[in-house]
Amino acid sequence: MTTYDFTDRTAVVTGGTRGIGYATAELLLRSGANVVITSRRAEAAEAAATSLADTTGATGRVVGLAGHVAEEDAATRVCAEAVSRFGSLDILINNAGTNPAFGPVTEQSRAVMQKVFDINVTGPAVWAGAAVRAGLGDKNPGAIVNVSSIGALFIEDGIGVYNASKSAIMHLTRQMAHELAPSVRVNSVAPGVVRTKLSEALWKEDEDAAASVTPLGRIGEPADIADAICFLAAPSTSWITGSNLVIDGGQIVN
Ligand SMILES: NC(=O)c1ccc[n+]([C@@H]2O[C@H](COP(=O)([O-])OP(=O)(O)OC[C@H]3O[C@@H](n4cnc5c(N)ncnc54)[C@H](OP(=O)(O)O)[C@@H]3O)[C@@H](O)[C@H]2O)c1
Repeated sequence: MTTYDFTDRTAVVTGGTRGIGYATAELLLRSGANVVITSRRAEAAEAAATSLADTTGATGRVVGLAGHVAEEDAATRVCAEAVSRFGSLDILINNAGTNPAFGPVTEQSRAVMQKVFDINVTGPAVWAGAAVRAGLGDKNPGAIVNVSSIGALFIEDGIGVYNASKSAIMHLTRQMAHELAPSVRVNSVAPGVVRTKLSEALWKEDEDAAASVTPLGRIGEPADIADAICFLAAPSTSWITGSNLVIDGGQIVN
């Protein structure tokens, strides 16, 4: 067992095949939850679910489904499947995100900007709606955790569109916390640079440089963020809603 107790709770984790989503699914499973992970590709989701079952011993408590975050039908289908397989939907982790827009904001195409906002902002709100309609918060108190970024708090060269999308989801977190209380809590996490595929350009070539901007002297690991996500989703944090938790090795105090 772990710090958290998610026995008899069911979670949907979007983008659970690798990185932060995979680590979160792993900790939820080790803490007793039933978990549905998603990916754009069914085979990737199924393979990750098998690997999670093998490493945690949670056979029968984890399933991998295809589900593009920008597709409303996928949100409805995945949330309904969680309820029909496990009897309730109690937790939604809006983790899947993207960053295809590099360079100044004014040089981005409309198509690229729309893609970033579709996946990082509209998607999480649509999945929250689908989860609520599927019964989130009906059987047990519900919890949604959105994955923002410390980029939401800064002006930075090169990734202004991505950072704006992460700022928007931070704001929508507070809005949804207001709208969905008291049956569903809604919080966000804002990671610094974490060792995943998405952020490779920020750490892979020179990890020492990426680590040097944090007082704690290292980049983040997916498990660091998974722990914070589970903290915010846990039944024990029942008086926290509308909050954003920064997990960045102290980068923003530098
Ligand atoms: N890594 C960092 O430094 C960092 C920092 C701050 C915030 N974040 C945020 O953390 C979250 C997770 O990122 P990560 O770093 O763990 O990335 P990652 O390792 O690249 O994993 C992304 C996951 O999302 C899935 N995914 C991507 N696009 C999707 C879509 N349209 N629909 C459904 N699933 C999709 C991927 O699976 P498939 O490819 O199989 O679809 C994969 O499972 C993102 O919201 C990201 O913005 C990351």
